[in-house]
Amino acid sequence: MGEHISVLLRESIDLLDVRDGGTYLDLTLGRGGHSSEILKRIPHGRLIAFDVDGEAVAESKKRLDAIGSNYVIYRENFADVGEVLLREGIPAVDGILMDLGVSSPQFDEAERGFSYKEEAPLDMRMDRRNPLTAYKVVNGYDLRQLTTIFREYGEESESHQIAKAIVRRRSEKPIETTTELSEIVLGAKSRRARSKKGFPAKQVFQAIRIEVNDELGNLRRALDAIPRLVAPNGVIAVISFHSLEDRLVKSKFRSLTVVEGSRHGPDALPIAAEEAPFANLTKKPIVADATELTENHRAASAKLRAVRRRKE
Ligand SMILES: C[S@@+](CC[C@H](N)C(=O)[O-])C[C@H]1O[C@@H](n2cnc3c(N)ncnc32)[C@H](O)[C@@H]1O
Repeated sequence: MGEHISVLLRESIDLLDVRDGGTYLDLTLGRGGHSSEILKRIPHGRLIAFDVDGEAVAESKKRLDAIGSNYVIYRENFADVGEVLLREGIPAVDGILMDLGVSSPQFDEAERGFSYKEEAPLDMRMDRRNPLTAYKVVNGYDLRQLTTIFREYGEESESHQIAKAIVRRRSEKPIETTTELSEIVLGAKSRRARSKKGFPAKQVFQAIRIEVNDELGNLRRALDAIPRLVAPNGVIAVISFHSLEDRLVKSKFRSLTVVEGSRHGPDALPIAAEEAPFANLTKKPIVADATELTENHRAASAKLRAVRRRKE
């Protein structure tokens, strides 16, 4: 099984400006790549990590134990980070990292149903406690709901045709597997769309995955919660993997770094950025360099943005 190669590892850890003695929050532990680098730098500090995936938690524990014991992992949704830290009596942290999306082990383990390349039951849950599966979306959502998620979460231009083909097929018998689904998508797409670069069912799979895991809803809730959890001078760094995520991150960071509104009438410029609670550390998002791209194809769509809370 493919190991998870951490994306933009050096760049994100540098931006976080990890200092020994501090408390750092990794909201997407995965296989612990970023968390390990943080833990190595804080023998006298503390790492707090979140992941909803039980396997990610178990595997990363082994990796982190080899470095130190000054960490704690919560198998919790990062959307609930505010409530969890409050419950645990942690008022603020010195830096927060999010590395969104699916990890390579999740993708490569065929039975989890994330991959359109391998035969598996339709699942796609990052958190196996989640009652919503890809099977329930594909066999239970109506034509309008399917069309909407394919269009909005997959940015799929032939969403209606594909949704219709799914509804037609499942009226004969339930759609059970990833390969069945990708074959239906392929059959529904126009010749022009099929000949485009990339696997033709990729966008539909992305859309279903986003729906099953409520990826955008959870990201929105986390982005609303984390600004008040970071201490003065602390950094929030987020790595996103598709335009829908990046749009949410960009817009939240803009609202934290630019105070909109005018002091002198409707045509005046926004109030100076220096008065905003956070400073923008990445005017343009950081992307992977050529060396990283040759080693890790997942890095191709990665964008890293960061903001720092100003001193009070
Ligand atoms: C790309 S991986 C992180 C990889 C990690 N940075 C590393 O270097 O090993 C993203 C992880 O975030 C987790 N995740 C996704 N959405 C989550 C959520 N709402 N709450 C908690 N964890 C989540 C996934 O289960 C996955 O393990």
